[in-house]
Amino acid sequence: MKLVIIGASGLVGGNCMNYMNDRGWKTIGTYFSYQALNTCFYDTLNPSNPNNFDVIGFDPDVIIHCGALTHVDYCELNQAESWQKTVQSTMNVIKLAKEVDAKVVYISTDYVFDGLEGPYAEDEEPNPINVYGKHKLEAENLILDSKLDSLVVRVAKVFGDEERGKNFVARLAAQLKEGYLKWNGFTDQYTTAINAHDIARAIFHLLSDQKTGVYHLSYGEYFNAYELVMKVVSAFPQAEAHVGKITKADFKQEANRPPLGGLKNDKFASEYPDFEFTSIEKYLHQHLQS
Ligand SMILES: NC(=O)c1ccc[n+]([C@@H]2O[C@H](COP(=O)([O-])OP(=O)(O)OC[C@H]3O[C@@H](n4cnc5c(N)ncnc54)[C@H](OP(=O)(O)O)[C@@H]3O)[C@@H](O)[C@H]2O)c1
Repeated sequence: MKLVIIGASGLVGGNCMNYMNDRGWKTIGTYFSYQALNTCFYDTLNPSNPNNFDVIGFDPDVIIHCGALTHVDYCELNQAESWQKTVQSTMNVIKLAKEVDAKVVYISTDYVFDGLEGPYAEDEEPNPINVYGKHKLEAENLILDSKLDSLVVRVAKVFGDEERGKNFVARLAAQLKEGYLKWNGFTDQYTTAINAHDIARAIFHLLSDQKTGVYHLSYGEYFNAYELVMKVVSAFPQAEAHVGKITKADFKQEANRPPLGGLKNDKFASEYPDFEFTSIEKYLHQHLQS
């Protein structure tokens, strides 16, 4: 199997690139502004850039599209840029995939739902409440309507190893490792979470078994943002931590968040009953404390 992973300088794409390579699949990962280890340049917004990796020459069987503008509040304030980086980029990836007849895996989000009745299953109706979610849903629909062989994999609150350590759990853990954390966590925003390495493992299974359609991935637990912070804090008992509880009414965010967001993983779990997910506590125990 030959793969191109767009956005392999990021959290999800980086884990997919490393995992697929380790499994013996010939995998090229791309970066845009940050050249992570073993990645090649590719700009989805300028497919004719002469510096782009030659995807057509490589002729992949699969393109995993992880490129997006993922800063939710920034998207709310910069709608045109959000559309370009999420929707236009996906249009360009679809065109590329058609040229090489590749399957496309699109990474999406629980933010396609309004969060009134989460966590959500695959067959529930999306109704995004912020710009980021609207653009992710538009991109999903382009993929699913493209007539390409495709998979849409929705995830929420991703944590895990990444070169830049910019995900939420990694940033909290870095401060706790230094010995001190002062943070406020929302008690009225619920989510599920998933380890980026588990996303890579799950996609490996889904591709190996030629699955198509929409899959939700999470490790099953459901918690609010305050409880999530406390999970990380509990892994660093030696650190001094001051964690406050706040609500949406206390702190204005530019973008609305689904209050009861998150994803049910029953479909994936029923098809892969032996698949073991990594909880935040287990991940921290294994990777960040040493
Ligand atoms: N992290 C989460 O909690 C989460 C939750 C739900 C869904 N998702 C979805 O999962 C996917 C991956 O997210 P992530 O957390 O891994 O994000 P990330 O770490 O910010 O990675 C985004 C990637 O997109 C690349 N990119 C940006 N603009 C590009 C362009 N014009 N051309 C090519 N590549 C471009 C970035 O490259 P450079 O960094 O080199 O510029 C980076 O490699 C996204 O689609 C996101 O919507 C993430």
